[in-house]
Amino acid sequence: MQTRSHGQDLGTAAAEAFADPTFKDRAYAVYADLRAADPVSSARMPDGRTMWFVARYDDTLTVLRDHARFGNDPGNVFSQDQLEAMYAGWLSRLTPEQQARVAEVDRAISRHLLGVDPPNHSRLRRLVSQSFTPRFVEGLRLRVQQIADGLVDEIEARAAASGERRFDLIEAFAFPLPLTVIAEMLGIPVGMRERFRVWSHAAVAFNPAEPGDPGQNDLLFEFVEYLRGLIAKKREAPADDLVSGLVEAESEGDRLSEDELVAMIFLLIVAGHETTVNLIGNGMLTLFEHPEQLARLKVEPSPDLMKGAIEEILRYSGPVEHSLSRWAREDIELHGQTIRRGEQVIVLLASADRDETLVADPERFDIGREPVRHLAFGMGIHVCLGAPLARIEGQVAFSTLLGRMPGLRLDAPREALRWRRGSLIRGVETLPVAF
Ligand code: HEM
Repeated sequence: MQTRSHGQDLGTAAAEAFADPTFKDRAYAVYADLRAADPVSSARMPDGRTMWFVARYDDTLTVLRDHARFGNDPGNVFSQDQLEAMYAGWLSRLTPEQQARVAEVDRAISRHLLGVDPPNHSRLRRLVSQSFTPRFVEGLRLRVQQIADGLVDEIEARAAASGERRFDLIEAFAFPLPLTVIAEMLGIPVGMRERFRVWSHAAVAFNPAEPGDPGQNDLLFEFVEYLRGLIAKKREAPADDLVSGLVEAESEGDRLSEDELVAMIFLLIVAGHETTVNLIGNGMLTLFEHPEQLARLKVEPSPDLMKGAIEEILRYSGPVEHSLSRWAREDIELHGQTIRRGEQVIVLLASADRDETLVADPERFDIGREPVRHLAFGMGIHVCLGAPLARIEGQVAFSTLLGRMPGLRLDAPREALRWRRGSLIRGVETLPVAF
């Protein structure tokens, strides 16, 4: 993408670039241009709406902290008639049966934490937050370590049997670790692993604004049906797990409705699947690309250095490229641009994390930085609920990999690695390694 000034051009180019899977290799250079030339830029969407991209750290904070003016729920900006008209436009190319399925899926999963504003958001978050406090998840560390050790045992056993000391780090380690943790927390059979992977990939690719591929909708429909069945089972026979807890959860006389339950569990599964895997994958890749930093982490395996390294990985190559949509609830001036009521705003977290005003020399990867500041987990009322869990999973993952496989190295040319499709997630499809 070329650098052009004037918000709309650059915004449009950014929107087009997002659709290109090779974009992630160029993204940080594009963001640097945006921060310098058009920190608040816009693009015209195919249906004529305007979408804004916010690239600088300070503007990002403004948007994420001002949830009263930048809302997550389009229902608080548009009337029901307007929403339905918007929907009718987006869905017109689908058959009536497919349209009904999209509407059903959307109704079932859109009322999750990232799709609602206060007071609903505060209510939902209160009901789930106790299971994700740093203190609570610290109690899971031992189990996370057992799961990580079990995965390395399996990798070593396969290597011994085949004589091949190489594997795909995503498939064999980065993916099953957080997935097993969240499945156990929720009380979901780990045997469903592969199905969850397919469903949650469909979820991050799914955009109710552009429902696109009916096959993807069918997968989400299947996911929702599964969750409804799971909730019914836990209602009948509660166990000591998070889904049972949420079914019974009450706060100030309040309960989750059936749709809110489905949406909450849906979000936890998807967030638990699509993010930490890439903290591990992006982290190892970044360390391979900076051998002196990798060597330092191996010779100085102190918990503090490890914690700092994880924060720097989150800043330098975070798994979530941008926020979910915010909707302007009134006309808002931001950095000389006027965002009109009803327009969509996306905050480029990956750009904010390379902003010169956030840290000195932001293009340098340095695990010893103190302190490391970043927005990889977002900010404000929607700040990542799972951050304490992700941090523990990261600490266990890196210390286990480096401790048990000190010779671990990249086993493919860097140019051969492919980024996953879709704009939201930064992560490689596979990460071939040898040890
Ligand atoms: C390294 C791993 C992770 C990263 C980088 C990450 C990143 C984020 C970001 C950027 C947001 C805010 C999005 C926005 O404001 O539009 C968010 C929200 C959220 N995350 Fe995470 N996440 C991670 C892991 C997890 C895990 C493991 C879970 C749970 C199992 C989780 C659950 C959530 C939930 C429930 C929200 C919504 C919070 C709310 O709206 O109140 N995340 N995450």
